[in-house]
Amino acid sequence: MQFYSSIAKGYDELYSEEQQIKHRIIKENLKIKNSDFLLDVGCGTGLLDFNCNVIGLDPSLDLLMQNNPLGHIENKIVARAENMPFKDNSFDKVISVTSMHNFDSIGKGIQEIKRVGKNEFAFSILKKTKNFDLIEEKIKNNFNIRKIIDGKKDWIFICSKIFK
Ligand SMILES: C[S@@+](CC[C@H](N)C(=O)[O-])C[C@H]1O[C@@H](n2cnc3c(N)ncnc32)[C@H](O)[C@@H]1O
Repeated sequence: MQFYSSIAKGYDELYSEEQQIKHRIIKENLKIKNSDFLLDVGCGTGLLDFNCNVIGLDPSLDLLMQNNPLGHIENKIVARAENMPFKDNSFDKVISVTSMHNFDSIGKGIQEIKRVGKNEFAFSILKKTKNFDLIEEKIKNNFNIRKIIDGKKDWIFICSKIFK
């Protein structure tokens, strides 16, 4: 987390091009309506530009304060994925882009994402992260994976909720 805060000012210059490829894939694969409420978990500087009500959550105030002109996030919240200040089923869509490998507890973060989301989810996971197998296993155990897409540096999982 401290690493991301320390590179906050230069983050977009370093990563915006590669992150926008992943955002575009997610946009094409989630059926987003203008009226949808979408939560972006680990939103960083807020590069996202989706046509709906977007709420961004990230523990790094430095990243959230960058106010990226390319992005369009109405509300930003300083918090961690593992403990989100939202009621159950608050969001039509929940996404997390290249962020899960940073969670202190991947299991708790994924449980929280499942709790606050209604049914559609997209997770972009860095291929080279050492936690990849663990993250994939937790996604498989908690969601119904509809599609896995090659996002160059990441695998992108398009999921729905498993109702037990
Ligand atoms: C590679 S950046 C991705 C940022 C953004 N999703 C994007 O596409 O540009 C990883 C992000 O994960 C965030 N992060 C770190 N620990 C987190 C946690 N416990 N919960 C949520 N986000 C976290 C970092 O602050 C950082 O913004």
